[in-house]
Parts: sequence; structure tokens; C-alpha cells
Amino acid sequence: EKPIQLGLAGLGTVGSGVYETLYRNHSLLEARSKIPFRIKRIAVRNLNKHRETAVPEELLTDDWHELVGDPEIDIIIELIGGTRQAYDLVTTALRAGKPVVTGNKALLAEYGAEIFKLSAEMGTPIYFEASAGGGIPIIQSLQNSLICNHINSIVGIINGTSNYILSAMGEHGADYEDALVQAQKLGFAEEDPSLDVNGWDAAHKALILATLAYGTTISPDKIYVSGIENITSRDFEFAKKLGYTIKLLVVIRYHENQEDALELRVQPCFVHDWHILASVNGVFNAISVNGDIVGETLFYGRGAGKNPTASAVISDVITAMRESRYPEFHTGFTPYAKSCGVMHIND
Ligand code: HSE
Repeated sequence: EKPIQLGLAGLGTVGSGVYETLYRNHSLLEARSKIPFRIKRIAVRNLNKHRETAVPEELLTDDWHELVGDPEIDIIIELIGGTRQAYDLVTTALRAGKPVVTGNKALLAEYGAEIFKLSAEMGTPIYFEASAGGGIPIIQSLQNSLICNHINSIVGIINGTSNYILSAMGEHGADYEDALVQAQKLGFAEEDPSLDVNGWDAAHKALILATLAYGTTISPDKIYVSGIENITSRDFEFAKKLGYTIKLLVVIRYHENQEDALELRVQPCFVHDWHILASVNGVFNAISVNGDIVGETLFYGRGAGKNPTASAVISDVITAMRESRYPEFHTGFTPYAKSCGVMHIND
């Protein structure tokens, strides 16, 4: 059987985790998927950069067009981050009929409407498990496992970096800046870490979760977002005295029978010490989904970092391989609902 050939764009923290894991667990993945595969080519920004991950030089190119233009490459994995180049890469790949796996939450939050439409028009799927919750299988859960539910709410912690900072401040009085530098060193933070601390990385993920839950894309300028930049040790002292801790929460709630039915906000919140979310610390994320049929569920795991995110990317790679080899299994997301009104929230 002819192997599926993969084109990997991006060899940063997540890209190198994907490369290493596909290499290390290759026989496990082939045995489980029953589909042979190999990485045909890897696009990087800088060919001369020193890399900890040993990659055969002949796989590397500094031009992603070579991946999309290669008729032998079946699936594109987009892990270059940012939105400008990534938009070109993803849309070019979809137009070329190559399924795309991406972890790019900013791209989907900003251009999701257009990208999902293009994907539907071309009949070329896009997969994005790694775009929210790191290693937690929340995307496929919303798409598949919870399919029979109207979603009442999604509440949780979905930015690992800010949770790492808040936990360090709350648990051992760490300094905000030191904790941020540490999160960057551990490979949790975005290339532009202001997205982590100003709430927008969590907001991008929340928009994606809401898209899956409510079947429609939502404009980022409609939602309320506030970050953790102004939280100080004094806030933690007050919180502690009153029996709380501080968490950056995402709250998505559907209000039946209201014109602007969707409440979507990201903000630092006091969380009771006894509440389960209060004990979600460090890089961990926790997302509670409440559905009308299933009731309350809670998804917990590492929300950022090389291997957890690679685990999510590779789950999509295998789904993409299965669906491109057996197209009758196609489960890609396409919007199906009218747009939802979003509540206006001042603070
Ligand atoms: N910067 C993100 C976070 C990475 O800290 O959660 C995972 O999406």
C-alpha cells in the first residue's frame, strides 16, 4: 500500500514535538491506523538555525510553497503560527485539495468563517484539535462525543501560560514577571506572550469552542476580554482572606429565549477554594462542558507545551489520513447554524 505523505510546516516547539513523536511512535501509529505514512518535507523559517531535534537535512526547505505544490504530498500540517503566512498557507493548501491539520487558534478565531467556507466549497477538510486545550481532546469531543447535546455552557481555564503565572503567584508568592519568563522557557507561551496575559489567546480558543458548540463563527470584536496583567500579590492576599483564589476563566453560556443569546467572556475571576477549578494549577487546563443530555462533564489535562500539543496534532493527522484514504469517513466541521447574537458585556 502506498504510504500517505505528510508536509510539515513549522518546526518550533510544537512542530518538533510532532516530528519526534511521529518518528518515535511510527510503528504504533501505523499499527493502529493501518495506514503507512511518512514525512516527505518540512518547511522552516531559517534553514541555518541550530535545532535540538535532529532532522535529515534533505527534508528541509525554507519555502512552504514547495509542500503545497508537491503533488506527492497528501496532507499539510500547519504549525508556523501567526496569521499572515498561515492564512496564505492554509487557504492555498485547501484550494489545492490538500487536507490541513492546524493548531492555529488565532487564525481560526479571526478567519474561521472564511476558512470553513473554503474548506466546504473545496470539499477539503481542516482539522484543529490542537487549537484549544493543548493535549485535552476537547475539539473532537464537541464535534463527535457530545454530538447529541445542546450545549448550555462551557466554562474553564484554557490558557496554560496565564494559569501557570497565577498559580505561581497564588501558591508561593512568585513575581508576575519571573513566572512569565519561566512559562516562556518551558515552551508554554505564544511567540507574542502578550496574547497569553491579555486574555486573547484564551479568547481565540473560546471562539473556536463556541463555533463548535453553536455551529457558527463569532466575530472577536463582539466578546468581552480582560487579561491578568494587572493582577498583583495584593489581589491574592484579599482573595485568600475571603476563601478564594484567582483564575482566568472563559465563560460561554447560552441564554435560551434571549435575542442575543450567547454570553462569551474571558476575565480573571475569584474562584472559591473548594471549587474544582481552584485546584487546576500550573500549565493544566480544565474545561467543563454542560450539555442538555449528558449534564456536566469536565476535561482536564496539560493545556500547552511540546508533547501535549503534539499529541493533539497527531490525533488529527491520523483522522486526516483515515478520511483521505477512506473519504466516506469524512467528519470535518462545516458551519450549519445561523449566526448567534452575542450579549454586550461592559465588565
Ligand atoms: N500559549 C498557549 C497557552 C499555548 O499558554 O495556553 C497553548 O495553546
